[in-house]
Amino acid sequence: RVLAGRGTDLAGRHVVVSAGGTREAIDPVRFIGNRSSGLQGYALARTAVARGAEVTLVAANVALPDPAGAKIVRVESALELREAVLAAAEQADAVVMAAAVADFRPERRSDVKIKKTSAEPEPIRLVKNPDVLAELVAQRRARREAGGPAGPRVIVGFAAETDDVLANGRAKLERKGCDLLVVNQVGENLGFGTPDNAAVVLAADGGMVEVPRGPKEDLADVIWDLVAERLG
Ligand code: CTP
Ligand code: CA
Repeated sequence: RVLAGRGTDLAGRHVVVSAGGTREAIDPVRFIGNRSSGLQGYALARTAVARGAEVTLVAANVALPDPAGAKIVRVESALELREAVLAAAEQADAVVMAAAVADFRPERRSDVKIKKTSAEPEPIRLVKNPDVLAELVAQRRARREAGGPAGPRVIVGFAAETDDVLANGRAKLERKGCDLLVVNQVGENLGFGTPDNAAVVLAADGGMVEVPRGPKEDLADVIWDLVAERLG
């Protein structure tokens, strides 16, 4: 799908997209997960390939056909996703974190299936996962200050908010320090598992683009427009 006016504007660029939702193992058969079909991330990968980019897609637990022309790295947990994204980001012009990364993981993973006994179950202690997006931003800042190779020029985060979408989005953009934040509106048959999305893309330079409800490819193309603009 090549759109008029966009053509191959990402030719020669390497972009990294994370998609899906991580799973944090409790035991060999159970996990704590995040609700994400991977549809938006896969749409981002497909549209980037169509626009000429070299695409690395880090996919967490996605049951969708492989996008042709993208390099796919499959991961399960947040820690695996972190490794894959940070490694791919070394050579990337842009990173788009569309994946739903679990904020917490069980402190310990049982090697054997936890059995039901007559006693009440043990509580599961959780620990924090690293924030991959924040790490990408911090790493780039540190490298810029050290005068070394700068790393990805454009870093894009996603946020799914249920209320006060704009205020929460602006605050999250500030906190995360990324260049663009795609704020999804969740609810009313939008967001998870649906082919359509509605979003507001907030830019660190104060800009804001509203993307009306439509196919996830359309939102993906707007995101790449904003990325391409920033890559110059
Ligand atoms: N993210 C990440 N690593 C995490 C958690 C989130 O890289 N451990 C990324 C997501 O991929 C997304 C962005 O950060 O691009 C925002 O995720 P979100 O869950 O909305 O933000 P949080 O800072 O985790 O805030 P909240 O408390 O609202 O969940
Ligand atoms: Ca979170």
